[in-house]
Amino acid sequence: MRSLLTALALVAASVVVPASPATAADPELALTPPMGFNNWNTTGCDINEQMIRDMADIFVSKGLKDAGYSYVNVDDCWADATRDPATGRLRNHPTRFPGGMKALADYVHARGLKFGIYTSAGTQTCAKTMPGALDHEEIDAQTFADWGVDYLKYDNCNNQGRPALERYTKMRDALKKTGRPIVYSICEWGQNKPWEWGKGVGQLWRTTGDINDTWSKTVEILKLNAPLDAYAGPGHWNDPDMLEVGNGRQTTTEYKSHFALWSIMAAPLLIGADLRKISQEHLEILRNKEIIAINQDKLGVQGKVISQKDGQWVFVKPLANGDKAVALFNESEVNATISTTAREIGLPRSIGYTVRDLDQHRNFQSAGKISAALPPHGTAIFRVKASQDWYRYEPALDTSLDIAAQIPGIPSTITPAGEPFVATVTATNQAPIPVLNASVALTAPAGWKVEELSSERAPVLLTSQSVQGKWRVTPPAGVTPGAHALNGSLGVTWVGHGRLARPVGASVLVPVAPPSGASVWASDVVFTTERSGYGPVERDRSNGGYVGGDGKTLTINGKTYEKGLGAHANAELILYVGGRCTSFSSDVGIDDERDVNQQGSAIFEVWADGTKVADSGLRTWQDDAVSLTGSLTGAKFLRLVVNDSGDGVRYDRGDFAGAKLTC
Ligand code: GLA
Repeated sequence: MRSLLTALALVAASVVVPASPATAADPELALTPPMGFNNWNTTGCDINEQMIRDMADIFVSKGLKDAGYSYVNVDDCWADATRDPATGRLRNHPTRFPGGMKALADYVHARGLKFGIYTSAGTQTCAKTMPGALDHEEIDAQTFADWGVDYLKYDNCNNQGRPALERYTKMRDALKKTGRPIVYSICEWGQNKPWEWGKGVGQLWRTTGDINDTWSKTVEILKLNAPLDAYAGPGHWNDPDMLEVGNGRQTTTEYKSHFALWSIMAAPLLIGADLRKISQEHLEILRNKEIIAINQDKLGVQGKVISQKDGQWVFVKPLANGDKAVALFNESEVNATISTTAREIGLPRSIGYTVRDLDQHRNFQSAGKISAALPPHGTAIFRVKASQDWYRYEPALDTSLDIAAQIPGIPSTITPAGEPFVATVTATNQAPIPVLNASVALTAPAGWKVEELSSERAPVLLTSQSVQGKWRVTPPAGVTPGAHALNGSLGVTWVGHGRLARPVGASVLVPVAPPSGASVWASDVVFTTERSGYGPVERDRSNGGYVGGDGKTLTINGKTYEKGLGAHANAELILYVGGRCTSFSSDVGIDDERDVNQQGSAIFEVWADGTKVADSGLRTWQDDAVSLTGSLTGAKFLRLVVNDSGDGVRYDRGDFAGAKLTC
């Protein structure tokens, strides 16, 4: 009903509010996606002018300005709680920004950078600490222009239910009236399909709700933004929200994916980390000029998904000079080799192609295959062209290291101590030219047993031909639990250039020994792997927010539990039980946390290796807890799953309450 009303309001608004090109936002602004900084993802409201000055200085001193970052933006909470009674104007917050916003803008401008600010198309901003601009559009726009603001993020909170198009158009017109070019960022979270009306209103529009520093949220947003590619172009961009790279809760592999995927989607690149504290490794991700060039390419096309299957994604973005950018993204939880071809990405026929790896900064020659062996959550990003001089570059030799799956549902890279597994190294010549004397090898950590099962050698390896070797590997009984590296490699001779090596690694995880007691709380067992839809799986607490340790007492329809697991759909928890345990039992249900939302539903499953031993059916926020028990006899792994029931994962805080193992 609400969405119908919104839709009607939008239709009505579009009749009365002119949105014609004549009054459109400045067509010269944001011809490439805006790049800069915004404090929200790292500070929330805890902001001050010194931080903003420091970011401007660091943009200059650490080469970020040189890499293309120009906007230094302040988010919510910068203003005093009330307007100036005499003028009706907004005022700077007295302690956070004592020097005033004009002085801060001047400071930023003096460094050759641009200054951005924030307010909401409502009576107050989202943090409710300052007035919003609803019905004050002209005076606020003029105040911003007087201060020298170059960018306005216009949020959607406290909007009094008034039509979005009307509210956002009013601010567009107010900004235009000031005569100052101000990039206008529409932030209504994708609620009213801004991609359908945002062009001509603002230069960018958020397509989704807020990002946070978790892998699951990054992927959720990616999936909402990627299909909207047709709506983006110079001066009108889809905005999947600001970057989390460097904020510290994701792996470097995940941050590299986040950056590469946002870049190929022509998303605004607004750094969301405190650059005074960021690690060198994460700073390098943000400063990768070759990836930035893909994002900033002046053709201005958002990369398109040309295939997506089993968590293996291929994105293609045409570039102004005829090259194609390609991102190969492994969303899955297992290693995967993802490939496409020059033909699939729309390049003309050629004997050879130059494939430039934008992470490694190296060129390769290929006969047409573009491929990468990727770890879970990894992305490779390339610039590919049909070339004349492909022969100058090293042959593309795809080399992958795979571990054979043993137990359905359990990643093959989980390898218990003392138990053998089979590792395979496969290498394929993707170059137009043959390579010689190809052989593969495998090494394991010291003390691990490695037995060769087979190992091919090829005196000549023609285009598309492969060599392969297989080994039985056994981690010793006393091995330290945790991640260990296996290293594979291919060696070939590139005629005229000598030997080439292609190393390939895989990380295997040795689980901690199974629990020893007879009756063990699941929340006292070391998790082998853990994945949850909103922050980590909590021990003896409900899920809470996306930060670890922020839940409450586990409670299902008023019944509380001291012990148990607090998860959020979609969640999967793997515990190594090593054949020692006989059964698992738990109450399950939707936690009462945030019951005020009167939402939340999920299905709980218990798996013993590849067999499902219990299933709760649909549980909603209104249901009492239900007890599940399942046999674990003979099983090496217990796998606990909280599945969304098909209505989206929001509010699905699922508890395994009183979860216990009998061993
Ligand atoms: C909303 C926006 C965020 C941030 C906050 C500030 O949630 O979507 O990006 O600006 O408000 O309160």
